[in-house]
Amino acid sequence: MALALAEAPAASIALDVEGVSHRYELDGKELKVLDNVSLTIAPGEFVALLGPSGCGKSTLLRLAAGLETPTTGRVLEDGRPVTAPNPDRILVFQDATLFPWRTVRGNIATGLEARGLIREREYRIDEVLELVKLEGFADFYPHQLSGGMAQRAALARALVNDPKLLLLDEPFGKLDSLTRLRMQNELLDLWKSAGFTALLVTHDVEEALLLADRVIVLSDRPAAIVAEVRVDRPHPRRRDDASLIALRRSLLETLGIAHDV
Ligand SMILES: Nc1ncnc2c1ncn2[C@@H]1O[C@H](COP(=O)(O)OP(=O)(O)OP(=O)(O)O)[C@@H](O)[C@H]1O
Ligand SMILES: [Mg+2]
Repeated sequence: MALALAEAPAASIALDVEGVSHRYELDGKELKVLDNVSLTIAPGEFVALLGPSGCGKSTLLRLAAGLETPTTGRVLEDGRPVTAPNPDRILVFQDATLFPWRTVRGNIATGLEARGLIREREYRIDEVLELVKLEGFADFYPHQLSGGMAQRAALARALVNDPKLLLLDEPFGKLDSLTRLRMQNELLDLWKSAGFTALLVTHDVEEALLLADRVIVLSDRPAAIVAEVRVDRPHPRRRDDASLIALRRSLLETLGIAHDV
C-alpha cells in the first residue's frame, strides 16, 4: 500500500515565481507590467490574487501557465523551469467561452482529443460531468445552458485534464451573486477532492477570504506584491466570521478602498 502511494503521481505541484518582472512591447513602447514579483505556492495550496484592474494579474497567470516567458526572473514547477504550456497546468481564462458548435461533452473532450487520449480516458468526461453536476446536460449546446452551467462546463473542460495546478482568472466574474456562491462552494469541493494547487484571480475580497489559504494583494501596474495574508480558518467558512471581517477590512484598506464595516 505504501509503495503504491509512493508511486502514484502527485496530484499537485509547487509553483515558484522568482523575481519575475515582465514588460510588453506595444508600438515600440515598453509597458512594464510586473515588477519583481516573488511568490511560492505549496503543493495543494489555494492562493487568491487581488489587485487593481490592469495591474498584471492575468499576465501572472499566463506566465504560470507557460503561455508567456517572463522578461526577467523565473517560474518553476516543482523546481523545474516552466517553458511551455502543459496539461498539468491549466488556465481557465477570464472570458472562458465554450465552442458554440460543440456539445458540453464535445467541449470537455477537446483537451483529451488534442492529446490523443480520448479513447483511453473518455470515461473521465462522465466523471467530471458528475463532479460539476452537469451529468444530465452532456448533449446540450452552449446556447442551451445558463451562465452558471456554462461556467461549470468550462471548469469541467479544465478538470478533465487532471491539472496539478489550476489557474483561475476571475472564473465567476460574470455570474449572479447566488450562482456565484454556489460555484464557490463547488470549486472548494473540487479542490478538496482532486487535491490540485489553485491560484485564483478575483476582484472580490470576500471571495478570496472564503476560499483561499492565502491572499496576495498586488499594487497598481507594474504590479508588485504589497500585502499577503494567511487565512487560517477551516472550511466551510462563514462570511460573518469575526476574523474574516477583520481581514477583509485590512485588505480593503490595502487596496485603497473605503469601507463601512
Ligand atoms: N499581449 C499584450 N500586449 C501588450 N500589452 C498587454 C498584453 N496583455 C496585457 N497587456 C497590458 O498589460 C497590462 C496588464 O494586463 P493584465 O491583463 O495582466 O491585467 P489584469 O490585472 O488581469 O487586469 P483585469 O483585472 O482588468 O483583468 C494592461 O495594461 C494590458 O493592457
Ligand atoms: Mg485580467
